[in-house]
Amino acid sequence: MALDLTSTTTLHNGVKMPWLGLGVYKAREGTEVINAVKAALNTGYRSIDTAALYENEEGVGRAIKESGIPREEIFLTTKVWNTDQGYDTTLKAFNESRRKLGVDYIDLYLIHWPVKEKFIDTWKALETLYREGQVRAIGVSNFQIHHIEELKKHSDLLPMVNQVEYHPLLTQKELLQYCKQEGIQLEAWSPLMRGNNLDHPTLTALAEKHGKTPAQIILRWDLQHGVVTIPKSVREHRIKENADIFDFELSPAEMDQIDAMNQNHRFGQHPDHFKF
Ligand SMILES: NC(=O)c1ccc[n+]([C@@H]2O[C@H](COP(=O)([O-])OP(=O)(O)OC[C@H]3O[C@@H](n4cnc5c(N)ncnc54)[C@H](OP(=O)(O)O)[C@@H]3O)[C@@H](O)[C@H]2O)c1
Repeated sequence: MALDLTSTTTLHNGVKMPWLGLGVYKAREGTEVINAVKAALNTGYRSIDTAALYENEEGVGRAIKESGIPREEIFLTTKVWNTDQGYDTTLKAFNESRRKLGVDYIDLYLIHWPVKEKFIDTWKALETLYREGQVRAIGVSNFQIHHIEELKKHSDLLPMVNQVEYHPLLTQKELLQYCKQEGIQLEAWSPLMRGNNLDHPTLTALAEKHGKTPAQIILRWDLQHGVVTIPKSVREHRIKENADIFDFELSPAEMDQIDAMNQNHRFGQHPDHFKF
């Protein structure tokens, strides 16, 4: 069980990844993202999740550099966007991301969405990057079980991570169990439901009982389910709040109460019907 912000899960290739990281989707390039990443690193976060799509890789890279924290202590994730999918185009997109981030290697490179007819070639490019040592781990995002089964037909290398929408209104039980069985680390995006429904009575009651906030209750629930989580905030007090989840524990009955909130409700797109 994760003990503090530096606690890690071990991916199936042996690479260690922090259980908690900072997400930076919609953190504006420039001062906003730079300050958020610096606040997170100062708080003790050692994992940052960005993507080419977020258009803030330069700021993320600059904040990491200016923090003075050795590069090898930070776990950096970025993703190849849909329009860059395919073998050669992915390799090119990777180099562009790496240039913007100003780093020699990426810790985790993900296929952002399973673009039909392209994601197998994209995966082949990720395998090349992995075998060349340009990335320490490779994975997928928004992949359903059938997408991973398709990948398996074309590759001996299973993704190390699958990053998906996951929160109390979308508990993805079957996918979580499948990933655990396959040795793929599940990672939750929009863990805080993008700031919605934090006043749900189950969450507020548990928050009051533990002297925590609803956000902290959810993030603790992620950890206890063995799910990596990357809440986004650009506010220092929330960045700190979201990391203060290592000093309490939810009972099995409390975990069940949160699981029971599931409505298969998505705030983002469905991986089988996305429009981009
Ligand atoms: N792979 C994918 O397709 C995909 C899709 C979406 C997201 N992601 C990744 O996952 C990360 C997290 O997801 P997300 O950004 O969509 O949503 P989220 O982390 O669930 O929620 C972020 C929202 O909640 C607010 N917030 C943060 N901490 C809070 C707290 N303690 N109390 C109340 N409100 C709080 C933030 O506002 P302030 O910033 O104003 O504090 C922001 O509006 C992203 O940043 C990105 O890195 C990946």
